[in-house]
Amino acid sequence: MRMAKRMLVVSMLAILCLADARTEEFFYNRTCPNAETIVRDVVTSHFRNNRTIPAALLRLFFHDCFVEGCDGSLLLDASADGAVIEKQALPNNNSARGFEVIDDAKARLESTCPGVVSCADILALAARDSVVLTGAPFFVMPTGRFDGRISNRTLAEAALPSPFDSATRLKDSFARQNLTVQDLVHLSGAHTIGQSQCQFFSPRLYNFSNTGVPDPTLNATYRAELQQACPRNANATNRVALDRGSEFVVDNSYYRNLVAGRGLLRSDQELTLDSETESIVRSFAGDENRFQLRFRRSLLKMGELRIKTSANGEIRRNCRRVNPRNTIIVTTTNGDDAAASTI
Ligand code: HEM
Ligand SMILES: *[C@@H]1O[C@H](CO)[C@@H](O)[C@H](O)[C@H]1NC(C)=O
Ligand SMILES: *[C@@H]1O[C@H](CO)[C@@H](O)[C@H](O)[C@H]1NC(C)=O
Ligand SMILES: *[C@@H]1O[C@H](CO)[C@@H](O)[C@H](O)[C@H]1NC(C)=O
Ligand SMILES: *[C@@H]1O[C@H](CO)[C@@H](O)[C@H](O)[C@H]1NC(C)=O
Ligand SMILES: *[C@@H]1O[C@H](CO)[C@@H](O)[C@H](O)[C@H]1NC(C)=O
Ligand SMILES: *[C@@H]1O[C@H](CO)[C@@H](O)[C@H](O)[C@H]1NC(C)=O
Ligand SMILES: *[C@@H]1O[C@H](CO)[C@@H](O)[C@H](O)[C@H]1NC(C)=O
Ligand SMILES: *[C@@H]1O[C@H](CO)[C@@H](O)[C@H](O)[C@H]1NC(C)=O
Repeated sequence: MRMAKRMLVVSMLAILCLADARTEEFFYNRTCPNAETIVRDVVTSHFRNNRTIPAALLRLFFHDCFVEGCDGSLLLDASADGAVIEKQALPNNNSARGFEVIDDAKARLESTCPGVVSCADILALAARDSVVLTGAPFFVMPTGRFDGRISNRTLAEAALPSPFDSATRLKDSFARQNLTVQDLVHLSGAHTIGQSQCQFFSPRLYNFSNTGVPDPTLNATYRAELQQACPRNANATNRVALDRGSEFVVDNSYYRNLVAGRGLLRSDQELTLDSETESIVRSFAGDENRFQLRFRRSLLKMGELRIKTSANGEIRRNCRRVNPRNTIIVTTTNGDDAAASTI
């Protein structure tokens, strides 16, 4: 009897291990052959209207993957229980943006192949399309992620790094995701596009770490520019390019700026103040191809963090809401998607 019980436990463990979560290239080939084209078209049309969109989507992917894995948790809206969610966590509230692009892609996918393409994969594909639209060479983003059901502010605040972090803290934050020091430097290259609000760096301009003086590592010419863009009493939500002179192009200019003391966030400039990270910064500053290759590799690695499967995830019907509990999707013989039914 005890033996039988133990064997049951062992075989259940074996099943859990067999359900090894992994993505594959073109996961939707047969189930939704146009999935990748639809996402690309939606991202492209939003990009044509507003060229700041790729930066928004790339950042969403990072913030999604670091919290509960790449499972679309960041996309969830608050539910009726009033719990404070990931979207409202400090690093996201009033700065995470681009959700309407994901909604748009999801709506088109649901009308083409209902219940098939996860929100987590839409975000991953959109991030890939975003960097390709802005100058990265094309690459395949594997798919097959399932969507999570948890959105929790505390988890997000614990996982996401702060723009005021030291290199040591940044390394720790990446290590908690099983990402290396190299990944930290490669992925920080995402700041080759996009902007930051003044509030995330203005202490550096006036009263760095309460020393009463500006951050001494900040290039003085650049500091003067930033002080103009972010005067002491200005609106803290004013926005400035993260990669001065090249904010719409994925290239190694971010690293050349770092070498010249023109890192916008303290967390950017820190990468030149630590010997381990500094050598990578220097090599990328002098080698565009090397940067592109390593950035892509680390982005793909980030995209594999704690992938969910059908065993612990779902294919959300609306990226802002988890599916009703115990919902099964009934597909009728003519291929029409019948109303979800509750068992
Ligand atoms: C290393 C630690 C990192 C810190 C402390 C950090 C912090 C920040 C902050 C404070 C902003 C400005 C947000 C705003 O003002 O709205 C920002 C923007 C951005 N971040 Fe990061 N970030 C980090 C790493 C990353 C990574 C790994 C990625 C993606 C792979 C990324 C992608 C972006 C992008 C694309 C923007 C521009 C967003 C926009 O224009 O809306 N960041 N980041
Ligand atoms: C999907 O199609 C691509 C290109 O036609 C092919 O390379 C790939 O092996 C296919 N993948 C799957 C999972 O069928
Ligand atoms: C693009 O979107 C951003 C943020 O959503 C907004 O601040 C900006 O005004 C928009 N730009 C254009 C050209 O519409
Ligand atoms: C998020 O920002 C809004 C203002 O837009 C504020 O009212 C709210 O308290 C913030 N939420 C959290 C959790 O800080
Ligand atoms: C969110 O996560 C924290 C840390 O694990 C936990 O203490 C808290 O209970 C969670 N909140 C909710 C609403 O589940
Ligand atoms: C890191 O790797 C360990 C061992 O493989 C695993 O148990 C853990 O879940 C991973 N953590 C993250 C955040 O991926
Ligand atoms: C810098 O900040 C500290 C602590 O808030 C404050 O005591 C000091 O007066 C500030 N110095 C300047 C020059 O603003
Ligand atoms: C700052 O600017 C934002 C966006 O332009 C605006 O919504 C907000 O009301 C402004 N805040 C203040 C204090 O002027
Ligand atoms: C500071 O930036 C200016 C241009 O903004 C550049 O000419 C100068 O070389 C930089 N200084 C250092 C020390 O890198």
